[in-house]
Amino acid sequence: MRIDVFTLFPAMFDGPLTESILKRAQENGLLNIRLHNIRDYATDKHQVTDEPPYGGGGGMVMKVEPIVSAVESVLGEALADTPVILTTPQGRVFNQAMAKELAQYPRLAFICGRYEGVDERVRILVVTDEISIGDYVLTGGELPAMVMIDAIARHIPGVLGARWAAEEDSHATGLLEYPHYTRPPSFRGLEVPAPLLSGDHAGIERWRRQEAIRRTWLRRPDLLLKATLTEPEKYLLATLADEWLRRNDNGR
Ligand code: ADE
Repeated sequence: MRIDVFTLFPAMFDGPLTESILKRAQENGLLNIRLHNIRDYATDKHQVTDEPPYGGGGGMVMKVEPIVSAVESVLGEALADTPVILTTPQGRVFNQAMAKELAQYPRLAFICGRYEGVDERVRILVVTDEISIGDYVLTGGELPAMVMIDAIARHIPGVLGARWAAEEDSHATGLLEYPHYTRPPSFRGLEVPAPLLSGDHAGIERWRRQEAIRRTWLRRPDLLLKATLTEPEKYLLATLADEWLRRNDNGR
């Protein structure tokens, strides 16, 4: 997958893109990330990329010409079928399903917003999607772009390596992930749950699924509304709910 990132601060991407899994994905040719400095596309003497808003009100707005010129000259013909994502707190909120869906494209582009916002004409001319990473405001769209690139890249076949799969992640199954343990079997009196040491693979799978349901019930019960559960799993959930009601003396 090729990803073009349009930003005023390309150096912010050093680190997240040059370490660990994203580094290896680029070395292996699975991911080709190109950073473009929007300032390079400003044509005036001082390479101005932002100006005060028409109508006043303070703050600065990112100018339309440098951004549109950068996106059009880098993407060219590909503009017609490449999602161009503007990172903004006004966008739809990013989630695992969107990461998976965006991973299907051979090419993506991100425009990292800054300051008070981006001239509305950028949206009209080149942006196809506006995405937020959550209901809070950051100083700019660079961190959101990195978050999304990371979450998307994990779904590109080969990026996680043969023994890992994105399928079992928290959220991928509609549930949070089960608890993990590794050696030693006992630490300060805390034992690894017996089913994990049993070597019985079906038993391990059963335990993991049960603990995923328990954890989701305790931390993110909202997710259970959409999860697909078997009849015994629904029974387990009813038992957990019943225990919870007893403990909280609710509804009695
Ligand atoms: N820019 C500033 N805050 C943001 C957010 N929460 N998501 C995406 N882009 C942003």
